[in-house]
Amino acid sequence: LTTVPAIRALPKAEVHVHLEGAIELADLLEAAREARVRLPGPAATLFDVASHDDPPHPSPLSAFLRFLDWEGALFSSAEQLERLAYRFAARQSASGIVYADVIVNPAHWPSWRSDPAALFDALGAGFDAAAADGLCRVRTCASILRTWDAATAEDLVSAVVARRPRALVGVSVDGDERVSGRTGGRFRGAFQAAGRAGLRRTAHAGESSGPEGVRDAIDLLGAERIDHGVRAVEDPRLVDRLADEQIAVGVCPTSNLALGLFRRLEDHPVDALARAGVRVTVNTDDPAALGTRLEAEWALCAAAFGWDDARILRLARDSHLASFATDDERASAL
Ligand code: ADE
Ligand code: ZN
Repeated sequence: LTTVPAIRALPKAEVHVHLEGAIELADLLEAAREARVRLPGPAATLFDVASHDDPPHPSPLSAFLRFLDWEGALFSSAEQLERLAYRFAARQSASGIVYADVIVNPAHWPSWRSDPAALFDALGAGFDAAAADGLCRVRTCASILRTWDAATAEDLVSAVVARRPRALVGVSVDGDERVSGRTGGRFRGAFQAAGRAGLRRTAHAGESSGPEGVRDAIDLLGAERIDHGVRAVEDPRLVDRLADEQIAVGVCPTSNLALGLFRRLEDHPVDALARAGVRVTVNTDDPAALGTRLEAEWALCAAAFGWDDARILRLARDSHLASFATDDERASAL
């Protein structure tokens, strides 16, 4: 079960993946052609060219977020979003993923700035069509950008709570905490409103923030799951708390290496967190931009940490337990 084909065949959930980071090059070139945008450079180096148009960036993550802005600006119609959503679900299926919570941040989609609920409606139509065709069931988490103010975050939550777009399951917060600083207090109202409306809550923390970011996500935002969470390892009491309260972490090894959090996979704390009893999931974050796939991430970890079949089966089980799928969906997957 530790090879790529065997892992691919295992029914899995993915709980930490950004739609914006999952737009494959062919989809991007198509959108650029439809938008009549001249590409800034050779296709293979789009990321470098588009994200370095206004240097210097305060961190590699900020440069990457700028690339996502550039990319999202190529899309302007609901039909394009529906197509993108359907193709995302099809690619998830090709990796053996039967359920995915996908993060979508309206900050990266300027055409929907005045009507973010319409962005989620259009994506939801594509995700529902894919599920009806037997592909991966995908649900969206509307994401708040770390550098927003409280009112912008609350407006997003109000918009999606009022409209209840199809396939929307929760809210999240992402972006660069090295730029924003601590923002738990700032987004507390938005997350409380989401929780009151029955939306699920997840938050990026412990990537561009340390253990204090993870504590803020739990204590101030009511996060049920932490995206990344890996820097919790710097605080053993926090690790115990994650384990005791079974707050899952959505770990993304290749992403962390690409953004310079750890030098080598062998130095990555994913294995230590799992051994400490934390509900660990392994995910892609931004598969197209990073050139990775979920089955590859799992196989890399298996090779680096000597994970055996039992550990891989546990990973699959925990992926479903950590997801925001309905109880019925989870029961049929387990
Ligand atoms: N948005 C897309 N990928 C991200 C990451 N790794 N961290 C924060 N925000 C993101
Ligand atoms: Zn992420």
